[in-house]
Amino acid sequence: MQTKRTEDYLPKAAVIRKITVENSQIKTFELAFADEESNRSFHYLPGQFMMVSVPHHGEAPISFSSTPTRLGTIQLSVRRAGALTAFMHTMEAGDQIGLRGPYGKPFPRANLEGRHLLFIAGGIGLAPLRSVINYCLDREAAFPRLTILYGSRLPSDIAFHTDLAAWRNHPRISCFLTVDAAEPGWDGAVGLVTALLDRADIDPAATTALVCGPPMMIGATLKELSGRGFADDNILTTMERHMKCGIGVCRHCHMDSKLVCVDGPVFSRAQLLQLDVAEVQS
Ligand SMILES: Cc1cc2nc3c(=O)[nH]c(=O)nc-3n(C[C@H](O)[C@H](O)[C@H](O)COP(=O)(O)OP(=O)(O)OC[C@H]3O[C@@H](n4cnc5c(N)ncnc54)[C@H](O)[C@@H]3O)c2cc1C
Ligand code: FES
Repeated sequence: MQTKRTEDYLPKAAVIRKITVENSQIKTFELAFADEESNRSFHYLPGQFMMVSVPHHGEAPISFSSTPTRLGTIQLSVRRAGALTAFMHTMEAGDQIGLRGPYGKPFPRANLEGRHLLFIAGGIGLAPLRSVINYCLDREAAFPRLTILYGSRLPSDIAFHTDLAAWRNHPRISCFLTVDAAEPGWDGAVGLVTALLDRADIDPAATTALVCGPPMMIGATLKELSGRGFADDNILTTMERHMKCGIGVCRHCHMDSKLVCVDGPVFSRAQLLQLDVAEVQS
């Protein structure tokens, strides 16, 4: 195993430029490194993540929700979950956090280029997919057609309203929403996100699916896509495991023989079927 130096664990200071409230649980933080050279030399791709830290409050992996095609913007969308993320939700523009990365493997471009892309998201799972969707919109020739299926628990849990409004009006995108349970005023679909597959016009042979969400949703969706004729190589998802180092040293994020931080977080169903992983067990 490659030896790591202390510097590999040192976060760089980043300033919160803007905070967007996406719903009662999720905020998007727009960030810039405190030193200009780091901003100039920073590169990432959709699917990768940063280790985000605040002294005395912890460190956690958070995926990019922005696209690198829009230069100078790092956006991380954070759901309030525990110590670090709850503290981040109290922070304001101008405050500083620590960032190290980017880490992990991105969504593989070769599986996406020229194909119909089907994005299936549950809850905060739309954050990493937002990065890919906006990347694809900015690279029109390579990614001609996108379909988005997004499921939330309740209508009031729907996040990324500004993006959803833009995507729903975009000529290259078909976008469908559903909720597990309706609230007064909701006249949209009610039911599992996989039920939306019946509304979309999809040829499995020409389509690659990108699935992000809670483990149960991932398990059900991967199985459904396979049953509908998607090849296992054309079903991509992101896996979550608790992380400490983020760089392949501590093994906290092990998933059978793989480490999510360096071998993932993006995996195809074909890769997952080789592993003993709860999300693909029926
Ligand atoms: C690759 C990757 C990308 C991610 N991207 C995002 C993202 O874009 N946005 C986002 O909001 N989140 C994302 N997450 C999830 C995020 O990293 C976790 O929610 C993280 O735990 C939050 O840190 P925290 O300190 O706020 O909460 P924690 O204190 O870590 O607590 C979070 C929850 O995990 C439980 N928990 C804590 N420690 C353990 C443990 N050792 N074993 C089991 N359960 C435990 C707690 O009880 C609590 O319910 C991502 C995770 C991964 C692996
Ligand atoms: S988080 Fe340490 S090996 Fe993955």
